Amino acid sequence: MPAERTLHVSESNVDVIVFPDAAAAVRSAAERIARIVAESVAARGKAVLGLATGATPEKVYDDLAARVRAGTLSFRDVTTYNLDEYYPIQPVDPRSYRSYMQRFLFDRVDLAPNRAHVLDGTVPEAATAAHAAEFDRWIDADGGLDLQLLGIGRNGHIGFNEPSELAVEAFASQPTRVVGLHPITKTDAIREFGSLEAVIPRALTMGVRQILAARTILMLATGPHKAPIVARALKGPLTANVPASLLRTVADKVVWLVDEPAAAELG
Ligand code: PGA
Repeated sequence: MPAERTLHVSESNVDVIVFPDAAAAVRSAAERIARIVAESVAARGKAVLGLATGATPEKVYDDLAARVRAGTLSFRDVTTYNLDEYYPIQPVDPRSYRSYMQRFLFDRVDLAPNRAHVLDGTVPEAATAAHAAEFDRWIDADGGLDLQLLGIGRNGHIGFNEPSELAVEAFASQPTRVVGLHPITKTDAIREFGSLEAVIPRALTMGVRQILAARTILMLATGPHKAPIVARALKGPLTANVPASLLRTVADKVVWLVDEPAAAELG
């Protein structure tokens, strides 16, 4: 199999690591996560990871769980914060991101249950702002995120930070909060909900502020359906209308891991 290559995107001055296929991109993401866990634990006794859900990271979690089974990785000293959760939703609902995380990662590794944080889809409406603010405070009190794993929505969202008319600076400082889902996000959620009418139209999402503050950001994008948005994020205008384009403002700590099909419009 040909090796990965580095592609320089001159419009944004960003280097993208391009892999021959999704499996190779996933393997690299898992390797990097394992390395950051080891380095953070060695440096300060713990690692704080920001995690993502969706189709793309499923295989990353398979890989991490296999490393734990093999004894080469441990989550003993790890704390995790997930990007987002539907709202309202019960954690035991199989469509919740809490159940996704239990299924793909938490139930398969040695992570302490009280250190696996997912925004709570059951908090009363009137308490969502306080819950979201508390989530940001917990992350801050944990010293911030050593790593944020990200996917990119077809509309450019990161977490459920959807395209916005805000100025870049205002968007970049948004806290964790309740949001309404964008039409493209709802369409893509049919995969989980069965029909458009069944999609829960709101969510809690970690804000852009916390995402951009992570010490390392891994952006994993695979498949031909991601090619147009990856190109817009890296070659188009820097705008809150393409949330992932804001990763260019912290480019030195962002690693783009993309397979050839998702990189097709970058060249
Ligand atoms: P996906 O979602 O991995 O299911 O494509 C990516 C995202 O919306 O962030």
